[in-house]
Amino acid sequence: MITQTFSLRRVHALDDAQIDQLAGVTIDCVDGGASIGFMHPLTRDRAVAFWRRVATGVAAGERALLVAEDAQGVCGTVQLLLDQPENQPHRADLAKMQVHRRVRRQGLGAALLRAAENTARECGKTLLVLDAVTGGDAERLYQRLGWERVGVIPGYALMPRGEPCATTVFYRNLGG
Ligand SMILES: CC(C)(COP(=O)(O)OP(=O)(O)OC[C@H]1O[C@@H](n2cnc3c(N)ncnc32)[C@H](O)[C@@H]1OP(=O)(O)O)[C@@H](O)C(=O)NCCC(=O)NCCS
Repeated sequence: MITQTFSLRRVHALDDAQIDQLAGVTIDCVDGGASIGFMHPLTRDRAVAFWRRVATGVAAGERALLVAEDAQGVCGTVQLLLDQPENQPHRADLAKMQVHRRVRRQGLGAALLRAAENTARECGKTLLVLDAVTGGDAERLYQRLGWERVGVIPGYALMPRGEPCATTVFYRNLGG
């Protein structure tokens, strides 16, 4: 079994160096074929612009951001979208789960997911919702960690190189 040491923390502000490293993780995921909101090739400028918008949302308290680092720097991340309509104060969306390919299959995805659930509880959230490409690595992760599978929406998005893909919607009740 591979063992690896990661540090994992919630960050409340991002500096330029962190934004650059997070952009690197996102570019690596898109290069690897992940459908996480971007078409391939994802340029550094677009990735940095994305993370600058995230930084603004984090600073405003609209998003909770978790960042994982190893000896080489930022290697994984996940977000909670906390800012929801006024009739859904108990809910957050889990989004942009990303693990750099160099550290995959060592338990970091699971650790990020558990940490995000704990952060959601700390924020007073009792219901989490997410969607993941049907048949992908992430779908297996969420099922393995006990998320409830709602169903599949065919043709929901495009893969980075243009093929349509279905998405599977999941939720997790944190109230129990
Ligand atoms: C989905 C994703 C986050 C998973 O990250 P990860 O760090 O590889 O996740 P884990 O290591 O916890 O689990 C992955 C696999 O490794 C296995 N594993 C975990 N620790 C292990 C270890 N020490 N030794 C061997 N295998 C291990 C798990 O059992 C799991 O196996 P499975 O895929 O066959 O079910 C990652 O693949 C990723 O970033 N993908 C691209 C972005 C993406 O699609 N994000 C999802 C958006 S919804």
